Amino acid sequence: MTALDDTQATAPSDVGSPKTPVIEIADVWKLHKLGDEVVKALVSADLQVMPGEFVCLMGPSGSGKSTLLNIIGGLDRPTKGTVRISGRDTAQLTESQFAALRHDIIGFIFQSYNLIPFLSAVENVELPLMFEPYDRKSLRKRAIELLELVGLGHRVHHQPTKMSGGEQQRTAIARSLISSPTLVLADEPTANLDHRTGETVVRMLRDLCTTLGVTVVASTHDPTVADQASRVVRMRDGQIVE
Ligand SMILES: Nc1ncnc2c1ncn2[C@@H]1O[C@H](COP(=O)(O)OP(=O)(O)O)[C@@H](O)[C@H]1O
Ligand SMILES: [Mg+2]
Repeated sequence: MTALDDTQATAPSDVGSPKTPVIEIADVWKLHKLGDEVVKALVSADLQVMPGEFVCLMGPSGSGKSTLLNIIGGLDRPTKGTVRISGRDTAQLTESQFAALRHDIIGFIFQSYNLIPFLSAVENVELPLMFEPYDRKSLRKRAIELLELVGLGHRVHHQPTKMSGGEQQRTAIARSLISSPTLVLADEPTANLDHRTGETVVRMLRDLCTTLGVTVVASTHDPTVADQASRVVRMRDGQIVE
């Protein structure tokens, strides 16, 4: 379990104490102008997530789940409201400061895996740190450890096109962990997987949460994802309803 130890040892020192919420958003709105119409993607959302929680965002298509995840991850900026990540008010950060924060403490997992098809599994896992001054050998070692952690020690040199959907998503999970994130955001991670594979992937996410102390926020339609979560947040029409 060296991968786990490394993750703890290399966690950034400025991520806040265990009592600082990893995510704290207050009265967050996201409006889109479409001609004369205004689409309310997010309406006065409030949410606090504490370290080590596995929060599941549930709601029908169009209810604002991706918008909320993108705002938390800094891929999108809110129209109005406060977003604090590990105690830092993101409105005070420039784009490049936010990019650095994102790089240091946030990992992303997407519905469609977003792997590079012509790179091997291990190269995909290394990719977020590939252009940084890391020692190639220790980066490779860590990437392999993460693939072993998600049960893919036997698929290290496979390309994504030669792997099943579940294996691709597990590769994406390993990639999301390469920078030892505090927070992993997963947007419908099981949407393209069959029921059983989805269940395996979600159990893996939950285990990350408990063994690595990583905070996970995952959006889904899938009740089995919700079953594994420590808390379910329900969304409807851009609002957090429960
Ligand atoms: N870039 C955009 N321009 C216009 N409307 C958008 C944009 N992004 C999202 N929306 C709208 O915001 C609402 C919430 O979308 P989204 O966050 O993707 O929901 P979900 O992920 O729950 O399916 C939807 O009505 C969607 O059409
Ligand atoms: Mg979505």
